[in-house]
Parts: sequence; structure tokens; C-alpha cells
Amino acid sequence: QAEDGIRDSSTSRGLGDVYKRQEFKNKTAFVTGGGSGIGRATSVALSVCGVNVAIADINEQTGIETVDHIKSLGNQASFYKLDLNNNKEIKNVIKQVYIEKKKIDFAVNNAGVGGNFEPIHKTNYSNWINTLNINLNAVFLCMKHEINFMIKQNFGRIVNVSSMAGLKGVGGGASYSASKHGVLGLTKSAAIEYGSQNIRINAVCPGFIDTDLIKKVPEKILEFNKKINPMRRLGYSNEVANTILWLLSENSSFVNGHSINIDGGYGCLLYTSPSPRDVEESRMPS
Ligand code: NAI
Repeated sequence: QAEDGIRDSSTSRGLGDVYKRQEFKNKTAFVTGGGSGIGRATSVALSVCGVNVAIADINEQTGIETVDHIKSLGNQASFYKLDLNNNKEIKNVIKQVYIEKKKIDFAVNNAGVGGNFEPIHKTNYSNWINTLNINLNAVFLCMKHEINFMIKQNFGRIVNVSSMAGLKGVGGGASYSASKHGVLGLTKSAAIEYGSQNIRINAVCPGFIDTDLIKKVPEKILEFNKKINPMRRLGYSNEVANTILWLLSENSSFVNGHSINIDGGYGCLLYTSPSPRDVEESRMPS
């Protein structure tokens, strides 16, 4: 069982006390997909620690809800409408955040979509492109513009949200898996390029986390995964946010180009990726 409070992404489970130190005070963060799930939990947790958070999301309503919640706790945040499919918008929004907040210390490239659940031979090319665009190309563009400003500051901490699907194949989810593998390649390459300029870049690989994103995952697959997960449950957004904050903090000062699994030990299993047919027939993947 998860500890009380861990399920609620509007809380930060006392992280404020852990990180409310000089290092997080007066820092600014740019978080994509801050209107929901992992992005919302991360934005709330950062703000509680004294960070001024710029929340970018395609969904104006949920993004503003996160900002209002943060302000109701007496902390700082603002909303920026951003469609990650729009290259120009990415550049303009990041520039606007830099101008308004004067710096971008932390960036969490989190927004993503699950893509379609279908075998490769039935996948429409436009579905493939759409998943790759949001989950990978947009992460590249966000990093490009974030790093531009971070070089000027001689300081930057970036966390990219990949997935356990960035480490293993997913039967029926090739576009998602390919996009998340790409995020890890980008993370490692960027860590090599910018480590000497005081910019650290890492990634997280969550397992199934209880957010809106998994609402489209067939119930049978979720149940199967819960059954075989060593901790026998889904993860919660706060559990991912806690790890992201650690990677942004100086507690991880020599961690660069790394990715951390947040999956209850799921990635340690020998068999982790059932195909839709395996699940249908309730058998272990072959
Ligand atoms: P979510 O669906 O709760 O949140 C995703 C956010 O991204 C939403 O606020 C949505 O409006 C925003 N977004 C989607 N398309 C966008 C676009 N074109 N432009 C701007 N914003 C856009 O999902 P969740 O679970 O919080 O996902 C966050 C990240 O975590 C994603 O990258 C996802 O792939 C990753 N992840 C999630 C897992 C899970 O089981 N929930 C597991 C592994 C990784």
C-alpha cells in the first residue's frame, strides 16, 4: 500500500521541508504538461519548495487550475498556453518565460501522449508522426531553446520524462516505445555536450502511473501489469515528482545523463512486455 497522501497530486508530502533551502529559493522552472498528472504534481512540489514555476500546456483550463492551486497555497506560478506540435510556439513560449522570469534554472520536459494502441502493420503513418512529434521532436526543440538560455546563465538542470517503454519494446505501442527510447538517446547525448557548462540533463522512466494518460490503456493490460508488478500496484504522480525534484536538486550534483526507473521494480522482471494477444489469452508473454 502507498503511504497516505502519496496519491494526491495536489500535495507535496513535505518535500518543501526537504528542499526549501537556498538552492531552490528564487529558482525558476519550466514544466511542460503541468496541467495534469506527473507535470501537475511536479509543478506543485517545485512551487512548495520556493520555485517560481512556468506551466506550459495545450489545455488552458487544467493548466490554469494548477496555477490557481499553487497560488492558493501562497506560492508562485504562471500559465503559458503551448501546443508542442507547433515549433514556433515552443520557441516563442520559452523565450517569453525567460524574459518574464529572467532565467530558466530548471526544465522538466514532461508532456506526452500515449499514442495509438495498434500493431505496426495497422498503424496509420500520421498516428506514428503525431506521437513522435509530441513525445520526441518537441522534447528536442524544448531542450534546444532551454539550453540556449541555460548556457547564458551557466546553470541549468533538465529532466526529461521518458518511460519504462523507453527501455523495452511495447507490443501494440511501437510509436510510444520508439519515442521514449529517443528521449533517452537525446538525454545522454545532451549530458555529454553540456556537462562542462554546468548544465545537467537526466531522465526518469516511470512505470504505470495513475494519471489520465493510462485511462486509454485496456483494463486487462493494467490488471495484468498490476498483478506482475513486484509492488502489486500502480505508481502515483507524486512518486515521480519526488524523483524529478531530486534530479533537479544539488543532492544529485554528479548525476548526469542518467535515467531512473520509477516502477516498483517492474523493469527487473524477466518478462515485462505482454503483447495484446498474451493478455487476451491470460498467458505469460512468449
Ligand atoms: P497526463 O495525460 O495526465 O498529462 C499529460 C499532459 O500533457 C496533459 O496536461 C496534456 O494536456 C499535456 N499535453 C498533451 N499533448 C500536448 C501538446 N501537444 N502540447 C502541450 N501539452 C500537451 O499524463 P501523465 O501520465 O502525467 O504523462 C506525463 C508524461 O509521463 C508523459 O510524457 C508520459 O508519456 C510519461 N509517462 C507516463 C506514464 C503513466 O503511466 N502515466 C508512464 C511512463 C511515462
